[in-house]
Amino acid sequence: MLTRLRERKEWKFFAALPRADRKLATAWWAALVLRGLLPAGFAVTMGVLIGAVQRGDDLAVPLSLMGTVFVLLQVLAPIHQALSANLGNRTSAWLYDRLSEACVRPPGMGHLEDPELSSDLTTAREFDYGMTGPPMWMNMDFIAGGLVEAIGGFASALVLFGFTWWAPLVLGGAWLSTHWLLRESSVWRDRNTDEVREAQRHAEYAYRLAVDPPAAKELRLFGLAGWTVDRFITRRRQLFDLQYRATRLRQRPVIWSLLLVGGANVVVFAALAAAVNGGRLELDQLVVYAQVAVGTSAIAFGGINWAMDGAAAPVAAVLRLQEAMGTKGALAPPPDRPVPAVGTPAREVRFRDVTFAYPQGGERVLDGFDLVIPAGTSLAIVGQNGAGKTTLAKLLCRLYDPQAGAIEVDGVDLRSMAVDDWRSRVTAVFQDFIRFELSLRDNVAPGGAPDEVILAALAEAGASDLAALDTPLHKGYEGGTDLSGGQWQRIALARALCALHQGAGLVLLDEPTAQLDVRGESEIFERILAATRGATTVLISHRFSTVRHADRICVLEHGRVVELGTHEELLARSGRYATMFNLQAQRFEAGEGEGVAYEALG
Ligand SMILES: Nc1ncnc2c1ncn2[C@@H]1O[C@H](COP(=O)(O)OP(=O)(O)OP(=O)(O)O)[C@@H](O)[C@H]1O
Ligand SMILES: [Mg+2]
Repeated sequence: MLTRLRERKEWKFFAALPRADRKLATAWWAALVLRGLLPAGFAVTMGVLIGAVQRGDDLAVPLSLMGTVFVLLQVLAPIHQALSANLGNRTSAWLYDRLSEACVRPPGMGHLEDPELSSDLTTAREFDYGMTGPPMWMNMDFIAGGLVEAIGGFASALVLFGFTWWAPLVLGGAWLSTHWLLRESSVWRDRNTDEVREAQRHAEYAYRLAVDPPAAKELRLFGLAGWTVDRFITRRRQLFDLQYRATRLRQRPVIWSLLLVGGANVVVFAALAAAVNGGRLELDQLVVYAQVAVGTSAIAFGGINWAMDGAAAPVAAVLRLQEAMGTKGALAPPPDRPVPAVGTPAREVRFRDVTFAYPQGGERVLDGFDLVIPAGTSLAIVGQNGAGKTTLAKLLCRLYDPQAGAIEVDGVDLRSMAVDDWRSRVTAVFQDFIRFELSLRDNVAPGGAPDEVILAALAEAGASDLAALDTPLHKGYEGGTDLSGGQWQRIALARALCALHQGAGLVLLDEPTAQLDVRGESEIFERILAATRGATTVLISHRFSTVRHADRICVLEHGRVVELGTHEELLARSGRYATMFNLQAQRFEAGEGEGVAYEALG
């Protein structure tokens, strides 16, 4: 029972508040309880005042008592509102911190790609956008209001015991029963069903398409403006329909509630009247009890209302994610005595009988894969889209562990090294490299490096004159600038080269020049070769003019090496590579550029 209670998301929500901000949470609860008690207190002080008037006593004390309660009633509400808003914001921030940690900390990446976690991730990421309900700071105020009413109702019922024991039970019971009778009416319980989440995701996606700049080009080109708006409206309407269905009133429970509540009130007020008529109740007492009898009704309206659902769902989602992401983003357990990665690779990097499928299922990308990359040499990988080239690069960064087989560096399984230690040996330009909204300096050396090293790396990448090192690379910042795709790619290259000069031993370049013009590409490639000489380099590219300069070339197909050798060896073999190379060379000579797709071979 206790564990069930602990598991409830409402409990988790309240438990999160002091963790978000202990002082604010304490003040919020204190104001809440005080506000709850004040209406009953006001009734009592009014009784005291009337009693004093009847007896002809001094009115100063009862009047100031009543005045104090009245002022508190007035003043506490806006104070509490401010506390709620602040505490709500703190709670949001606390949740975002937790979520960021949960996303960023695991050494692997599987947790970010797992479909089972995606709805929790959506809830946790977007609860404060106000798309499906009020944001946290507002919900906090609604919850406070509900709890103030509930406490107020119970406090009134408590005072009513002074009249007779059964009156608060009858009246409180009747009002309380409305929660149960109308349970399907007031709460949007279905808020987080799969149906709602899906409608929400679609609605939000359509909205983003409409308002975010990156989609603007295609929306216009393909005439999708109307389609996007229609889609947004339809999904949104579906969301509202779901909401409406979950909140509509049921007629029969309403009638039952009315009868019950009406009956209870008639009985209690009749008893009050009878007591007055029988001389058992004075006017001052009547005033108090009649007021608290009315005040008991707050039990029905108060409580943990619908706002609770919207506020507790993200808390529960974040806590669930914290647990699940740790597991799903884990790699093989770290060794007790990790082998140091310093100086590696000195001999070779080897894929030994590696089998790998992405964690969320699907086909094996690599199946019994073997490949040796001698240290200090460059290996180019070519192959059609989806062949597994980027997957090889990701495995080398140890973003995933293979399900079978091993990746070995100088004979040591990568899993025997500390993951951070190994990663410090690797640098990469990924196909979808990151563009930091930071200064040029921080883009080239996010982990820091001397300016001369940064400038040298920029020069090698042909990006010397792009901007000053302090220029933010985004127009949104003061003095910031926007760059073209090719310019960004040069910066990504500079980042890898900078890491290389800082000591990395393995360089992974996944289509590093795909966005460069042909002339720029060959010029830069010469420099990259010079810069990476002596390092172990893996170059993934579709452009055969760049690939040919590598020490060895590997043709990858469906996760298997189908050809491996030097450019000359592969040409002499007249196989896949030779056909492809010649085709691209012919086109180039014919002035058609290098736009031959690998798939052209069929
Ligand atoms: N994060 C992922 N989750 C699940 N499957 C993935 C993921 N990334 C890639 N895949 C699948 O793995 C296979 C290999 O993908 P990979 O990205 O390694 O191909 P590639 O050779 O780099 O292709 P391209 O030339 O298009 O860049 C593909 O079938 C792809 O659908
Ligand atoms: Mg790729």
